[in-house]
Amino acid sequence: MNQQPWWQKGVIYQIYPRSFLDTTHNGIGDLKGIIRKLDYLKTLGIGGVWLCPIFPSPMYDFGYDTSDYYDIEPLFGSMETFEELLLKAREKKIRILLDLALNHSSHLHPWFVESSSSRNDPKADWYIWADPRPLKRPPNNWKSVFGGPAWTWSEQRKQFYLHSFLPEQPDLNWRNPEVKKQTFKILHFWLEKGVDGFRLDVVDFYLKDEKLRSNPLRLGRRPYEMQKHIYDKNRPENIEIMKETRALLDHYPEKMALGEVAERNTKIAASYYGPENNGLHLNFNFNFLEQPWKAAAFQKAIEEWENLLGPENWPVYTLSNHDVPRHFSRYGNCLGRARVAATLLLTLRGTPVLYYGEEIGMPQGKIPRSRILDPVGKRYWPFHPGRDGSRTPIQWTGDRNSGFTPSNPWLPVNHDYKRVNLAAQKKDPNSLFHFYRGLINFRNNSMALQRGEIQFLDLKNPQILAFKRQDPVESLLIILNFSSRKQPVVLPSEFSGAKLVFSWKKDNIEMQKNQLKLPPSGLGIFRE
Ligand code: NOJ
Repeated sequence: MNQQPWWQKGVIYQIYPRSFLDTTHNGIGDLKGIIRKLDYLKTLGIGGVWLCPIFPSPMYDFGYDTSDYYDIEPLFGSMETFEELLLKAREKKIRILLDLALNHSSHLHPWFVESSSSRNDPKADWYIWADPRPLKRPPNNWKSVFGGPAWTWSEQRKQFYLHSFLPEQPDLNWRNPEVKKQTFKILHFWLEKGVDGFRLDVVDFYLKDEKLRSNPLRLGRRPYEMQKHIYDKNRPENIEIMKETRALLDHYPEKMALGEVAERNTKIAASYYGPENNGLHLNFNFNFLEQPWKAAAFQKAIEEWENLLGPENWPVYTLSNHDVPRHFSRYGNCLGRARVAATLLLTLRGTPVLYYGEEIGMPQGKIPRSRILDPVGKRYWPFHPGRDGSRTPIQWTGDRNSGFTPSNPWLPVNHDYKRVNLAAQKKDPNSLFHFYRGLINFRNNSMALQRGEIQFLDLKNPQILAFKRQDPVESLLIILNFSSRKQPVVLPSEFSGAKLVFSWKKDNIEMQKNQLKLPPSGLGIFRE
């Protein structure tokens, strides 16, 4: 029996609830829709689901602006529906992770409404307020990630408040012990309700410099990049909060926190695991997600992360999410590459996180300007089209609106849905869906993939990425062809009698002793 916690051995699937299944016919996905699709997730072999925020929100940033941390957004359902979801998911052994944005709340959260009302309010210091510099200039040079200054003037308080993102997302003051207490109360509430853990939004932003010092400048393309963010994020004190979060979660068996630190500096990102493996259970590695389609680039990113984390920490990998363009399109809308990418993601040491629709090869959506909803797209179009393109409705069928909704979908369904949809792929044994399903199933039954060590091999071919996954009971070799040409490969001697145990059905892998030819975008998992 594998004693690893579920969040190490299972595959996590990220759902953007608005785009999953609309059962109330308002064009927006909902919790009942997710309940209806639990069987599908089970068939796919998923172990846990991460739901993007489902709490009440005025939706300036589509739920990442929470106005009540203790309830469910009516567009998605009610607390009762959520409880039903938890129950039904548990019956199917699917874990549920909630997405909590605790760096900031909505500006309509009662805490902020109170805090803004007066400098003498009991919650006056629950957010980050500061006096202007001369000429009513903002307190320092900090910028918002979404553009413009990170400070907005409040007439009521005659002060500025800080928002690392939209003005409608004021930053909570994590230095205030009462605020910290309240946020931990929220975690506690949902844990008691039975959720299995959390994806924690932008944990790198939690604490800010106590003195609110201006960031030093540097060269960059966008104003935000023209600063070294040493005072407005990644303060060393953040790690203390991660440790406290971990301690709270570890009171319960198998609960976990998955952090989001969208940080290119991998050393900083790794520090969120805590100095003694006592911080977050998992933290995303955005460096992996941003690699070009090159075997060596991925190898470098993975090895670097492995070295930083060490054997006692557990990596987590993803290739797509609701903030970045879908990898299917980033890597050239190519099914062969999608299979190689899936194999990489699902065979590394660490927890794989899939993004809804990647299992059928959903491309990045093209959103006409008139339908852009994401505040980033609205502000920066055409320089940045925004993030709507990675949030389009899932493509269940070739029917109207891809079977997502009978009414008008909140975002346009991708044009290719008649060709690219789950119903069609279910019928085709060579489809990407069947490939993912087979691979996840393979992983769910492989000790080496679930818990083995990882070691890269140099097969003297720059187009090939090869690594071993080794466990006392099983040793596997994974070989991926990153090129669109056939590639000769010589297996290491200990694999000369190896058996091909997984590949794409249509790939014809020619093998003679330890020599083989891998088809274009070919892949193989061999057992020693
Ligand atoms: C990261 C989330 O993934 C993103 O969607 C959101 O806009 C920002 N954090 C702000 O909460």
